[in-house]
This record gives sequence, structure tokens and C-alpha cells, in this order.
Amino acid sequence: MLLTREEMTFDFQGGTLDPVRDRELLEWMLNQFLYGEMTGIQVGHWLYEHAPDYEAAKFLARQSLEEMQHVDNFLRIMAMIGARPKPAHGAVRFLATGMMVGSWAVHVSLEMAAGEGFVLMAFYAVIDTIDHKPSVDILRRAVKQEERHVEFGEEQTMKSIEGKPWLRRRLLGLNLVSMWGVRRLARFMQKRLPADHPLLKHLPAFLELTIRCNETRLLRMGMVDRPIRELSGARRAALVTEAYAGKALGGLVSLVTLPFRVLPPFRAWFGKKRLTETYLSDPKIIGFALPPGEPPADALADAE
Ligand SMILES: [Fe+2]
Ligand SMILES: [Fe+2]
Repeated sequence: MLLTREEMTFDFQGGTLDPVRDRELLEWMLNQFLYGEMTGIQVGHWLYEHAPDYEAAKFLARQSLEEMQHVDNFLRIMAMIGARPKPAHGAVRFLATGMMVGSWAVHVSLEMAAGEGFVLMAFYAVIDTIDHKPSVDILRRAVKQEERHVEFGEEQTMKSIEGKPWLRRRLLGLNLVSMWGVRRLARFMQKRLPADHPLLKHLPAFLELTIRCNETRLLRMGMVDRPIRELSGARRAALVTEAYAGKALGGLVSLVTLPFRVLPPFRAWFGKKRLTETYLSDPKIIGFALPPGEPPADALADAE
């Protein structure tokens, strides 16, 4: 990886996540992670449609298995702390599923290097703060695999922009937009988070670090020749415009077909439901996390 564990580590100044005190918060967080891992089924799309060579195909085949194992990991943690599988937040669902469009270059740079890089930092943060050793042990094993996914994203991004300055500028523009989104999220959270929680009060600063790390990664991948913050506002605007101009035609097609690919009612008409829509009624999922004999009524109700 182009960044070290130290560079991607945030100092929560002793703040911890307590499995009893923070059970509700942990349940919410774990459900976002669970959904994220379930979207590992999308690796199949990239393997079948886009893998550029045999090595990449082997990597993707292995990655899909690892993401499914991560689903098991989160179910195991949820069972231990008494959390139930529930639907992920709509924004997370849209970001992880609705955005599954675009080229191989967009996938490896935005979803793998940047996106999984962001998730990796969230995993590091949980490892560093959760006061529950069995969960830490499980997550420590999973992050080794996530690190490889990020590294693959970095390598493939560097390969795909080689000798293609137009693609480099386009990916940079898209990255600027996604970082703008994370900043908006940080500002939104700043206003709503309890200022006295030992861990949550650090969340906006943590999100700022994730943006800094992404900027460093962009620099080290050769996506930009100077730190992002040294780019003028006009230069950034030009990059974003170029990225979206290039996307315009593909974007139009995507926009028209998006509801059919993403929204459950449309997909249901065609009798197509993916695991990311049905996993909360899968007995293997709800049965895993609940104590035996307990009816999974609320989990099922939420899933509908
Ligand atoms: Fe994963
Ligand atoms: Fe991953």
C-alpha cells in the first residue's frame, strides 16, 4: 500500500467503544459494514465483464470469497455483542450499490483505492477503540485482506492512467467530487453528534484525516503533481467539469436505466432480486446472529 498503518491511524485520545454502553451505536455501525461486505457480490460483475488480464481475474475471484468471509466475520461480532442484522442507511446503500456504474479505471480508483481505503480506515478505527478483544482479533485478520484490496486498486489505477493524461484528469475530478461529499457529511455530523461522547466527538476530525489520506494517495499514485490543497479553485472546477463532460453520455444512459438496476420495485417486476436486497430475510444471516429460539420478527420487519 502507498500509505502506512501509522499514516492511516487517527488518535482518538483514549476514547473507546464499549460493547455494552455503545451497543446501539455499534449495532448501527456493524450493519453498515455488513451491507458493505454483502456488496462483495458485485466483484462478480468486475470479474466477468472487466478483468483486464488473468492476474486481475484471479485477484477478483479471491476478493469475492474474502468479502463473503467478511460477512461471516461481522455476523460473528454481532452475535457476540448482541446486535441484530438490520437494514443499512439509505445513503450507504446508494453509495455502495447505486453507484456501480462506469469503467474499470473508475472502479479501481474510486471504489477500490479510495472507497476501500476509506473503509479500511474505519476498520482501523474500530480495532483501535472497541473494548472487546474477540472482535479486535477477528477484525485484525480481515484488515490484512482489505489492505490487499486497496493495494490492488492503487496498482491498477496507476496502470490505467499510464500515458493517458485525459483519464488521469477525469479520475482526479471524480475524486474531488467524492471528497467534497465526505466533507459535507463531516459538516452534517458535526452539527448532530453528541459533543460529550468520548469517541463520537472526534468523528469530524477523523473524516478530515480520511480525506487527507486520500489526497496523499492521489499524489503518490501520480494522479496529481502537487498536493490537492495547492490546486486553485478554478483548476479544481475545470477538473470536475472535464470529468463530468466525459461522463455525460454514459451518465445519461445510466440515469435512464438506473431505476431498473437499483430500485427494488422495478427489479422485482423483472423477478430479479439480488442478495443485497434479500440478505435480511436469509435464514443463514438472521439465524447466525440471533440466540437460538428467538423469533427474528423485527429483523424481518425491517427488511421488508
Ligand atoms: Fe471486505
Ligand atoms: Fe474489500
